Amino acid sequence: MQPSRRRILESALAVSGQLGVRRLRILACAALAAPYPHLAFAQRAAPTPQCYDGDAPTIRQTDGPYFKPSSPERADLAEPGTRGRLVELGGVVLTRACRPVARALLDLWHADERGEYDNAGFRYRGHLFTDEAGRYRFRTILPALYTGRTRHYHVKVQAPERPVLTTQLYFPNEPANARDGLFRRELVMRVADAGDGLAARFDFVLDLR
Ligand SMILES: [Fe+2]
Repeated sequence: MQPSRRRILESALAVSGQLGVRRLRILACAALAAPYPHLAFAQRAAPTPQCYDGDAPTIRQTDGPYFKPSSPERADLAEPGTRGRLVELGGVVLTRACRPVARALLDLWHADERGEYDNAGFRYRGHLFTDEAGRYRFRTILPALYTGRTRHYHVKVQAPERPVLTTQLYFPNEPANARDGLFRRELVMRVADAGDGLAARFDFVLDLR
């Protein structure tokens, strides 16, 4: 592993330790080739999570008023010329028995760099499917805050032919977390600086065996 990648990973793990989030999975460091070489992101790790059989599924949350079906299939949501801070969001989708869920649908939508949702089009909306190891990875931006909420992403996760999990993901160390009644510590991503951007990680557990 390159020294810079190692620093990023160690930083991410330190963040996760501070969070004390129960379901954090410490992943083997296996930096893969970056699809966006201008960003020194910590890359998604090999599918060797420290997973506990029978672990609780990821918490469900409301999808809020701005979900829009039929988003485009794409991993890169960052708009050209955006002034938002780039974020690479990745992780794995697992069953409660720690099995990776291949071809799971992940639909991501969130506010833009001004805290607004695109309800006319599909900016900062997109979906993809996990690979055979249950891995996913989006490239997007840090959403701005909007009134009444802390910073968050919305996501739907669905294994093939199974029910949809709708939830939200949160950022650590956000002052507004404490003021947001929807905020749940279990839904905080591991986030670390990665070059000019951020590397964020969250592993979903679906209520499947
Ligand atoms: Fe929202």
